[in-house]
Amino acid sequence: MDAPLPPGPRGDFFLGSTLDFKEQPLHYIKYLHEAYGDVVRFRVGPSYWYLVTHPDDIWDIMTRRADVFLKPQIAKRLWEKFLGDGLLTTEGATWKRQHKLVLPAFHRKRIMAYGDTMVAYTHRMVDEWQSDERRDFDDDMVQLTLEIVAKTLFDADVREGAEKVGEAMHVIQKEMVEHIHMPVPVPKWWPSKRNKRKLKAIDDMESVVRGVIDSRRGNTADRGDLLSMLLMSKDEDGNGLSDKEVRDQSMTLFFAGHETTAHAMTWMWYLLARNPDVTERLVADIDRVTGGERLTVAHLKELPYLEMCVKESIRILPSVWVFMKQPTEDAVVGGFKIPKGSPVIISPYVTQHDARWFPSPETFDPERFSKVRAKAIPNGAYVPFSGGQRICIGKAFAMMEAQLVVGSLLQRVKPQLAPDYKIAMKAELSNHPEGGLPVDVALRA
Ligand code: HEM
Repeated sequence: MDAPLPPGPRGDFFLGSTLDFKEQPLHYIKYLHEAYGDVVRFRVGPSYWYLVTHPDDIWDIMTRRADVFLKPQIAKRLWEKFLGDGLLTTEGATWKRQHKLVLPAFHRKRIMAYGDTMVAYTHRMVDEWQSDERRDFDDDMVQLTLEIVAKTLFDADVREGAEKVGEAMHVIQKEMVEHIHMPVPVPKWWPSKRNKRKLKAIDDMESVVRGVIDSRRGNTADRGDLLSMLLMSKDEDGNGLSDKEVRDQSMTLFFAGHETTAHAMTWMWYLLARNPDVTERLVADIDRVTGGERLTVAHLKELPYLEMCVKESIRILPSVWVFMKQPTEDAVVGGFKIPKGSPVIISPYVTQHDARWFPSPETFDPERFSKVRAKAIPNGAYVPFSGGQRICIGKAFAMMEAQLVVGSLLQRVKPQLAPDYKIAMKAELSNHPEGGLPVDVALRA
């Protein structure tokens, strides 16, 4: 294969780009794209990583060459203890079997039945808010999405355990990110303070998830939720899922299914607060369609602008700012060689801020997603949920949740940030506002 290696920074003699990437990962990869083009090579620790940002290449990797570009080993190693062999990390026949098992819980019809819970829990949350109090909106969203995922997929009320899970998730994310950046990672079995902290956090999270599973193992009645499907499923030989398999899948869905959506809604609230014209039009739409009644799934088809606002929020501030692949053979991408086994980064944030596909990319303009204008967006340019066969299984769930939760909030609260708030992004496993999003509650009369 005689394609050249892609361009990229030389970086530090010992550390390559490790420190720049660690300090400001989002800004750094955006800079790499602007400085070096659509395929960039840079060094993190001892290995070279590749950033791919052109929509054609992204589309090709996610679809036509999906059997070559797999989930990276680094993700599997990182997640092993926490998520085990869940949907996010497995490949091949194991992934196919799991996907088949979990998919029915995400069918359109079934998801629509989750709508009432999403709305009811949003109202339950706002009922406790006081006018003029200052709140961390991001915290509220994390707790709310956890409660929603627990109720809809596991028929469990985790209000009591939510704080514990929130804290555990925080520690796990932080430790995972540190682990990626470490030039020489500390072995997982090493009894360092950090490893102990991480293990304790995993235990805490697991104890909540196990509590939910155990409470159901003895009672096999079908409650129509995902957990019933997992507990009742049988393979060709009539064997059910082992406790470990149910645990891994449940941890994966608890994990993948709440913070991503929570941060997406937090960023949407931020963008609405900064763009009062958009908010005014949106609120007027919602008031007209609902006539002051509670928002329902049935209203959503009459509220295209609400969906456009969600899509544009996730374009401008995608909570999943990066995902990774790894080729199982030497590959040529955009005319450059990517050697077998190299980590490849795809960044929704970088590609969705490229003015070639999204003119004036910093402007919050929901009309980009109107039926007519959306046709101009090339395949692979808008990938907040990834694509191809490994597309986010919770995409429709998350899109519906964001519309119902933010729509219901707008019926009762005006988006209003603390006056001195300045945006600061923290790109850990998902991109969220550093230090939370302080809002001053302004209840609608
Ligand atoms: C705004 C919210 C969300 C965003 C931006 C998002 C984004 C993504 C992305 C980019 C991937 C691919 C990750 C990779 O290839 O490494 C993914 C996978 C996945 N997501 Fe989501 N997600 C969201 C919400 C959800 C929800 C609500 C659930 C479940 C309730 C969920 C469950 C999953 C699972 C299980 C996978 C792995 C799918 C597979 O590999 O087969 N996600 N998500």
